[in-house]
Amino acid sequence: MLFRGWGKSVDGGWPEVATVVDHVGVPHLVVTRHALVRQLLTDPETFRPDNALDAVTPIPVAALRVLAGHRFRLPPTLANNSGPSHPEIRGIVADALHPTRVAAQQPWLTDLVRRRVARLAAALDAGQPVDLYAELAADLPLLVLARLVELPDAPVGAVKDFARAALELFWAPLDEDRQLALAAEVGRFHTVLRAFAATGGGLAARLRDAGHSPDVVVGALFFLLVAGQETTSQFLTLLLHRLTGEPAVRAGLRTGEIPVADVVEEGLRLEPPIVTWRRVAAVDTTLGGTAVAAGTSIVAWLARAGRDPEVVAAPGEFRPGQRGSRRHLTFGAGAHRCVGAQLARMEAAVVVAEAAPLLDGVTVVRPPWCPDNLTFRMPDAFVVRRA
Ligand code: HEM
Repeated sequence: MLFRGWGKSVDGGWPEVATVVDHVGVPHLVVTRHALVRQLLTDPETFRPDNALDAVTPIPVAALRVLAGHRFRLPPTLANNSGPSHPEIRGIVADALHPTRVAAQQPWLTDLVRRRVARLAAALDAGQPVDLYAELAADLPLLVLARLVELPDAPVGAVKDFARAALELFWAPLDEDRQLALAAEVGRFHTVLRAFAATGGGLAARLRDAGHSPDVVVGALFFLLVAGQETTSQFLTLLLHRLTGEPAVRAGLRTGEIPVADVVEEGLRLEPPIVTWRRVAAVDTTLGGTAVAAGTSIVAWLARAGRDPEVVAAPGEFRPGQRGSRRHLTFGAGAHRCVGAQLARMEAAVVVAEAAPLLDGVTVVRPPWCPDNLTFRMPDAFVVRRA
């Protein structure tokens, strides 16, 4: 079966385990049921995370040369690390993102979002269109992350461009010309990161002080700069878009009958920014009764698992607080479960609480467009105006 549209085709009659040849001709075993996705993610002896960051479209020699020219390397650090260094690196990152440190950022973020929302409300009142991705969601997670872990002093736009280039280079179907252009962009920023890793404070310093090599410090920062901000700005955009079509939910938020946290959780379940995640079989095994040979790439279809009727009462409907709403696997599961989950939830709660009223009475001028990508939704612009 040839397959496209991981973010779009989440409904429909999929088998529990299916072999899919994806858009670049690479075969994967796809797992759709909640119980099997959970089993896959939580058994690291049988199913390793080593392929988590492998390029979906094999990178041709010319683009590899460009990356090598920037001394680009991605050693196993976090998501793709099944080795003994993982718990310590994860522990250092988790300390930087500790719930108390995350909670301490909330007043600052609320103030910033409130000011932006006031400006956007004035623009809408004046009959102007506003882009809720560019003018609200895009940079917020990066600004918060920079305060939490100290990041290189690069302009926000450069970091966003690099992060989106990395998501495209590693997870999209691509031709060689595009791969070359993306390799140049990712390589250039990698050079910036390498310099920062050697001298920077905050998280970089803590990783260095723990004795990790420059490659490991760069690798961890590289992953965090992508996973720790691009995912959340995508989620904020997708959730705001979803809420424009959910007037009853917005009414419940207004009266306080529906808690913000429940809206965020149902949003994570129905509009995950990461629709799939990969593992690789370490040994010959079986999954849901299907034989799996060692070395098989397995795609956990997280978006689909969140709509499993075995788990959720009304799988396709946005019903905050419904049975099973919180049991989604949007943040993965097991030893590699997302360490930024608390931070992403806090950011989304602030944006929903402050920005949902903006959506009353607007029409969608341009819904977010999501390119073809195995894993990330990557919405671009989301434009609304008062009807
Ligand atoms: C809505 C936003 C986010 C989503 C949907 C998301 C989702 C995920 C998923 C699916 C994984 C892989 C889990 C697994 O292999 O089982 C992951 C790992 C990870 N995420 Fe997130 N994430 C989000 C936000 C963040 C943020 C804000 C940060 C940090 C600032 C972050 C940092 C990480 C790290 C470091 C890992 C690797 C953990 C490890 O391997 O030990 N993520 N995330």
